[in-house]
Amino acid sequence: MVSWFSRLVVSMTIRMPRWFVRWVSRRYVAGPNLADAVNVMTRLKKEGACFTIDVLGEEITTFDEALDFYNEYVNVISAIAENKLDANISIKPTAFGIHIDYEQGAALIEKLTTYANQHQMFVRLDMEDHRVTDDTINIVIDLHKKGIKNVGTVLQGRLHRTLGDIETLREKLGSDADYRICKGIYLEPGNIAYTGYAEIVHATNKAIDTMFDAGAYVGIATHDKPVILHTMEKLNQLNMGPGKNDTREHAGSIRQGKGPGYEFQMLLGVRGPLRRKLLKEGHRVRVYIPYGEKWYEYSIRRLKENPTIGTHVAKAFLMPWTNRP
Ligand code: FDA
Repeated sequence: MVSWFSRLVVSMTIRMPRWFVRWVSRRYVAGPNLADAVNVMTRLKKEGACFTIDVLGEEITTFDEALDFYNEYVNVISAIAENKLDANISIKPTAFGIHIDYEQGAALIEKLTTYANQHQMFVRLDMEDHRVTDDTINIVIDLHKKGIKNVGTVLQGRLHRTLGDIETLREKLGSDADYRICKGIYLEPGNIAYTGYAEIVHATNKAIDTMFDAGAYVGIATHDKPVILHTMEKLNQLNMGPGKNDTREHAGSIRQGKGPGYEFQMLLGVRGPLRRKLLKEGHRVRVYIPYGEKWYEYSIRRLKENPTIGTHVAKAFLMPWTNRP
């Protein structure tokens, strides 16, 4: 249940002027331009973090907009290479038009992934709501079938289907499967998703175990201590962790720009102290850096989609010591 407090914060924020929303989102969004993202990465790389870049925007209505995204991501790849940053890219399949025309959208994603491959760069397909889960997974499977393997998807712990999806991907990709696992930001209906905090954590932890046991590369995207602690236990069990080689029986080969079988992933501006603690302990931590002109639409949409973010935002501002960048 989303608390009345979260709803209140959300309903207040979305009525506020643009400058206020920008002020609120400043810590979570690098800025409107690619140069802003490069600046943030240059600053954070001193901590030892690596990055994934997200150009804001999704659910486009014409293919011209998809081409704009393609061109911007080509610029991102060049900027990462020129600035010698330890970074890859995250893309939203709907920003490439898969919901308008699957074939055309998938072809554009293939073109970008091939281009990224020429720069030894990995492409993560973010997972959007349940309407595009199958399409997103199928694009990854098809690309791997074509020998384009620098690509992986995100699975959401909250969805009932996730363990089945891990099994399908294990069958089709073996240990080449490369995941980001998160709880899932979209509040999906109870017939397809877990809705309570404890059951979402339990399901996410189960998905993490299953991914590790399948030999896959696992990017654990969370700021939630119970999920992080569970991952630490699993790493101990498998004798994996900082400074250790990935000796799982079915482990995939060492991936370019990746850690020894796993990495943690966190959002820009969220739980900086925890991020720095993990980095100090020697874990690989990737920071998700959103930027783009659509920062306003992105911020408002996220707040409307998942009002629990309202609580995080309020907490971050009322008690900044709990959530410093
Ligand atoms: P939880 O929501 O319980 O948060 C734990 C604590 O972290 C909170 O108490 C708060 O202190 C802090 N916190 C979390 N989110 C915050 C925020 N926005 N602002 C301020 N504080 C916050 N989802 C999806 O559906 N598809 C995707 O592709 C991705 N991709 C993705 C990448 C990365 C790198 C991350 C970290 C997350 C995603 N997500 C996502 C979002 C994810 O599914 C989930 O909604 C959020 O990470 C929040 O869940 P936590 O596990 O952090 O726990």
